[in-house]
Amino acid sequence: MPELPDYAQQARSHWTKSNSDFTAENARESWSRDEIVWGVWKTPESDVGILPELRGLDVIELGCGTAYFGAWLKKRGARRVVGVDITPAQLDTAREMNEEFGLGLEFIEANAEDVPLPDASFDMAFSEYGASIWCDQYRWIPEAARLLRPGGELIFMRNTDLEMVCSPDDARIAERLIRPLKGMHRLDWFSEGDQSTEFHLSASDLFQLLRRTGFDVLDLRQLYASEDSVDHPYYNFVPAAWARQWPSEEIWRARKS
Ligand SMILES: C[S@@+](CC[C@H](N)C(=O)[O-])C[C@H]1O[C@@H](n2cnc3c(N)ncnc32)[C@H](O)[C@@H]1O
Repeated sequence: MPELPDYAQQARSHWTKSNSDFTAENARESWSRDEIVWGVWKTPESDVGILPELRGLDVIELGCGTAYFGAWLKKRGARRVVGVDITPAQLDTAREMNEEFGLGLEFIEANAEDVPLPDASFDMAFSEYGASIWCDQYRWIPEAARLLRPGGELIFMRNTDLEMVCSPDDARIAERLIRPLKGMHRLDWFSEGDQSTEFHLSASDLFQLLRRTGFDVLDLRQLYASEDSVDHPYYNFVPAAWARQWPSEEIWRARKS
């Protein structure tokens, strides 16, 4: 594997720990689910309605983690699902679940900004809080475009730019603006002795990047916590009370022209 950027090495340490603290333990419950739900607030796809018909599609999940979303896409009829992730521990859990549930996903350990697969191999590139926030948009979005066939779709979930501008480097979200939106890109977080790096562009900069990379933006949905949402036991930096008032997560759908 080519030498990894500093943030990808950090992400691997961070997600090795997260795997033992939370994600491995929760993978089975997620893989077992038949209903597709999005993000921290588990918003049902039946309410959102953003996914296209999946039957027969070849899908690549960039930063798949334990690959429960890829599993749901396969259950919905995707022909082939390939999960790419940089963290061996996350892939071990994904492989174990894949064995147990017999869904026939494939996995590759790689940086989602530089995937060792040929051009135009997939009909859909997907990420739910994987490459969408852990990789540099100026690298992973062109890489997704390279992997897609003409007419293929890029669908991803990320935090809203509003959430990011209200989030300090080391603590839970506030109800005021804390960082500039202008030029927002690399964010370094420091929490309980852990350092990690994410990438967040303003919606306008992301829209322009998608257009320049050859995508037509088809849809954008911003999601709120519902009245009965409770704080997430692990991803607890945004309380449900905040996300009932402001959208904390969003889904983009774009088509390669
Ligand atoms: C939050 S998980 C996303 C998976 C799942 N949808 C979820 O929400 O748990 C983030 C994943 O991105 C992976 N990741 C971080 N940086 C990466 C990179 N440069 N290339 C590939 N995967 C990466 C991490 O290893 C981790 O498994």
